[in-house]
Amino acid sequence: MADLIEIRHVTHAYATPKGPLPVLDDLSLSVPEGSFCAVVGPSGCGKSTLTRLIAGLMKPDRGEVWLHGERVKSPRATVGMAFQNPVLLEWRTILQNVVLPLEIVPTKLTQAQKEARARELLELVGLEGFEDKRPSELSGGMRQRASLCRAIVHRPEVLILDEPFGALDAFTREDLWQTMHALRAEEPFTSVLITHDLRESIFLADEVVVLSGRPATAQFRLPVPDTGPRTLDDLYTPQAAAMLNTLRHQIEIAQGRTPAAGTRKTLPDPAPTESATPEILP
Ligand SMILES: Nc1ncnc2c1ncn2[C@@H]1O[C@H](COP(=O)(O)OP(=O)(O)O)[C@@H](O)[C@H]1O
Ligand SMILES: [Mg+2]
Repeated sequence: MADLIEIRHVTHAYATPKGPLPVLDDLSLSVPEGSFCAVVGPSGCGKSTLTRLIAGLMKPDRGEVWLHGERVKSPRATVGMAFQNPVLLEWRTILQNVVLPLEIVPTKLTQAQKEARARELLELVGLEGFEDKRPSELSGGMRQRASLCRAIVHRPEVLILDEPFGALDAFTREDLWQTMHALRAEEPFTSVLITHDLRESIFLADEVVVLSGRPATAQFRLPVPDTGPRTLDDLYTPQAAAMLNTLRHQIEIAQGRTPAAGTRKTLPDPAPTESATPEILP
């Protein structure tokens, strides 16, 4: 598989009143066409910055971003994005919200074809019957489903998901993970998912990349085998537990905390206290 996304030696710093804030340091990453890459790393390490660079919303100080063999220099319509907060427009119905990218990106589709495409996706994510509702009439999980449909309605080459499930409760989040698998089975896209949830990363991704602390570089890569967790039950197997342990260990390194020597931390023996010391009776 050819690499669809190629990030080559990217270094970036933000200008702040206190001077430059280095955020990314010689970060290289590639994502093969059709594959799903999850990026995890400490809070504030530069994950969202990375997504903005891939989408062409920003240019790196040094290094290059390539999409499908083309250098990214400006915002690209071939990128779909979804965020933690699904910014849906309240004055539009759910259907009209999902159709929106097709009204912006040049397309030969008629209005009826655009709506049919949006309806097809809404049905796929379980929102059939909610097409004419307003965003405020839907639950958080349903709004995020609609926002995913909007992100892929124009068949983007790349889908960037920046913690899209982060604000949802655990059960809704797991439902959405399964929806992502259903979408992926129907719609071929190459995806980069930013997440704090290690279970989410191994459930959805083909490869998990751990970023180091700021300024971030790609510290560790974990390929998730084809036999990796793809149903919720699979998340409770010894293989999944081993992957999660490895990732947790890498996150501890990224956070600069003393990593556990083994896969499991053991608590030190409690220091003897006065009350714990057996009293010698006369
Ligand atoms: N436009 C900006 N100007 C200055 N600093 C920024 C800007 N955007 C983000 N930062 C800072 O850069 C660092 C990385 O931000 P971000 O990429 O959002 O991290 P993450 O998504 O990993 O939490 C943070 O310390 C953040 O405060
Ligand atoms: Mg972020």
